[in-house]
Amino acid sequence: MSFRVQPAPPARPNRCQLFGPGSRPAIFEKMAAGAADVINLDLEDAVAPDDKAEARKNIIQAIGDIDWGKKTLSVRINGLDTPYWYRDIVDVVEQAGERLDMIMIPKVGCAGDMYAVDALITAIERAKGRTKKIALEVIIETAAGIAHVEEIAAASPRLQAMSLGAADFAASMGMQTTGIGGTQENYYMLREGQKYWSDPWHWAQTAIVAACRTHGVLPVDGPFGDFSDPEGFKAQALRSATLGMVGKWAIHPNQVALANEVFTPSEAAVAEAREILAAMEDAKKSGTGAAVYKGRLVDLASIRQAEVIVAQSELISAA
Ligand code: COA
Ligand code: MG
Repeated sequence: MSFRVQPAPPARPNRCQLFGPGSRPAIFEKMAAGAADVINLDLEDAVAPDDKAEARKNIIQAIGDIDWGKKTLSVRINGLDTPYWYRDIVDVVEQAGERLDMIMIPKVGCAGDMYAVDALITAIERAKGRTKKIALEVIIETAAGIAHVEEIAAASPRLQAMSLGAADFAASMGMQTTGIGGTQENYYMLREGQKYWSDPWHWAQTAIVAACRTHGVLPVDGPFGDFSDPEGFKAQALRSATLGMVGKWAIHPNQVALANEVFTPSEAAVAEAREILAAMEDAKKSGTGAAVYKGRLVDLASIRQAEVIVAQSELISAA
């Protein structure tokens, strides 16, 4: 490894981020009562232009009034290409209580976007004497975002998480798709007349995971639009977890349990990881760096793989 040790990401569970429009305060209590680790109150695309001002008021009030328990509480502002974003930040950071944990920036395109938001939040925090530093999370959902993903991941010490936003990403890339994430009908390989579907999100996901892991940020998979397709959601989430992502968004309450299930290491996986660690401990005692576990090679890299699963499981049970 480089002499620069890979920084640890924030030690908090992020298996599911549940979204709800800021213009629909009737669901806020239900969001707080659910099982998502993170709540995202939206000011952006789930809120119509005429409702933005009212949605800000709803969110500011709800941050103070509702018992959000141990959840991480985030507000998604409008993009920096809109006339709304500065007012989103000024109103929310000036007026919302200390319970607010994070601001989410959509359609981030470069490190300069992060700098602008960080500078504005920093000034408001000082002016208002806020004691808790507000964290940032971003959505990679444009061609510029993915092209500059590493500089974005490195841009601000406030940055905690980075999500892939499949629908806007597809639009920005000019992809011929309509669904929000998941299998795309025309993205297949052909062999002996048989179609084998492939994953068009794979490259963007791995680019995000690599940037995040380099800079100690949590990589997260974004929305899966068809909330009547639990199997499709689960398949997408399992691929994301396999690639190193720690969680996925829910755009409907029926997706929360699915995300929690996929991103909580199973008992069997944790048991196997512990057995591998024990096998390696024995190997170390007998002076070797490699051992055989269930007929396959395990070595020092296997320790690091097993530790990822055990650490994730311990983090979740401690929360
Ligand atoms: N969080 C918590 N509860 C929610 C919810 C949410 N995001 N969305 C719906 N509910 C509640 C409903 O109020 C209803 O509760 P009830 O049984 O007490 O009446 C129940 O869940 C079932 O809702 P349903 O009728 O299936 O959905 P809907 O038609 O009311 O809403 C959506 C569907 C998709 C419009 C809604 O889930 C939503 O706005 N999702 C978030 C969209 C968003 O924020 N997008 C931005 C990020 S991509
Ligand atoms: Mg989007």
